[in-house]
Amino acid sequence: MILLVKAIYLVTAAVLITALVVGGVAYYLLRPTPSAEANVVEIYHWWTSGGEAKAINALVDVFKAKYPDVAVIQSPVAGGAGYVFQAVIKPLVLAGEAPDAFQMHAGYEGKPYYDGGYLDSITSLWNDQKWANVIPKVVQDMVKFGNEYYAVPVNIHRVNVVWYNKAVLTNKGIDPNTLTTWDAFFAACDKLKTAGVASPIALGDSGAWAATHVLEQIIASEGIDFYQSWVNGKVTSATDAKLLDALTKFKTYLSYVNTDHSALTWDQAIAKVIKGDAAFSVMGDWANGEFYVANKVYGTDYGTFPVPGTEGMYGLVIDCFQHPKGVKHPENSLNWLKVVGSKAGQDAFNPIKGSISARTDADTTKYGAYQKAAIADFKAATHMFPSVTHGSGAPPTFAAKLNDIMSNFVTNKDVNAAAAALTQATKDASADYTTVWSL
Ligand code: GAL
Repeated sequence: MILLVKAIYLVTAAVLITALVVGGVAYYLLRPTPSAEANVVEIYHWWTSGGEAKAINALVDVFKAKYPDVAVIQSPVAGGAGYVFQAVIKPLVLAGEAPDAFQMHAGYEGKPYYDGGYLDSITSLWNDQKWANVIPKVVQDMVKFGNEYYAVPVNIHRVNVVWYNKAVLTNKGIDPNTLTTWDAFFAACDKLKTAGVASPIALGDSGAWAATHVLEQIIASEGIDFYQSWVNGKVTSATDAKLLDALTKFKTYLSYVNTDHSALTWDQAIAKVIKGDAAFSVMGDWANGEFYVANKVYGTDYGTFPVPGTEGMYGLVIDCFQHPKGVKHPENSLNWLKVVGSKAGQDAFNPIKGSISARTDADTTKYGAYQKAAIADFKAATHMFPSVTHGSGAPPTFAAKLNDIMSNFVTNKDVNAAAAALTQATKDASADYTTVWSL
């Protein structure tokens, strides 16, 4: 009976997501598009949560102040991490209907567009704006194909972060600074459960990516060498001890999460931490944007620590925009990129968004306490690693399978099956691992 209910539930969820994606694609392919003559710039992104929307609007305001005659058309596609967005934007680009610019992750995510000849090199813009002088090399390398620049980074997000509610931990006598190992972290979760906190950890994986995000951090906690092997497509044995250990840790992690996790979005999970219904959540620092719009104070209401086992590491997610070939408003598209890469643009966007500026000359007085700490951590990082969940670290042919494997795992908690599926997906994508990461 339970199996039947689970099956009906899974089918319904699959039908709903498919309907959402198909509906979304149809809407955007058939939508009225601005004429080439119209003095507009049309940008696509997936920033719809409270903090995300406020941040992109702040960036748009900088553009509007600089180019008051140009109307900005925003086409937001809801769905964290762009899990709906990718299915909307790809057919548009392939149909030669790309908007003037769209949100894209640095690294592998842009490669199919580059390989297909859908992007213009913007090296001359980079030279003109002298961005190479103010953007770290690790970031520059992730927006280049061949030896040309194809995108402009607007920020640097960190993925390996645990968010916590300060009052909940204080009330239960838990010192977050001691939670540097998974054993200590899970012991704290046990203590919270015993003390009446039903779900110590908040998870919102209605978009399966939020589960993948957590596994990714656990893989990083197995050591930077193992993570490097993973993103270089070298973890191909289903009996790999570190992979099995990571999945086993994730299984334990899932035993502490809210039972309604698969019905929640990432920001709804963070809202549980904000309200004190949960103590912890592992999420990228776009989460800081939600604490920001809820007027919560870092260090007073909430805090962070690196995911256990990843101290000193900085997991990178870099949002960027590009110049698709044949856009309707080429000059406005380039001016949008100038604002995206500008100090003014980044210092308006990032303090709200939760990320740090991609520029080393940011006006840090404009950034909150969390970002000030993140800027220091970025500078002091022993290792940086590219996120796979968020489009940078591994080829799309592998990354596209990851969320399905994880949503199965979240349901059946079958460590061996997940290890077999993950390593098979790696082998199937072996020809596409064209970047050799040295982390
Ligand atoms: C990431 C994106 C971030 C953030 C997050 C949640 O993939 O790079 O900017 O918005 O998704 O939607």
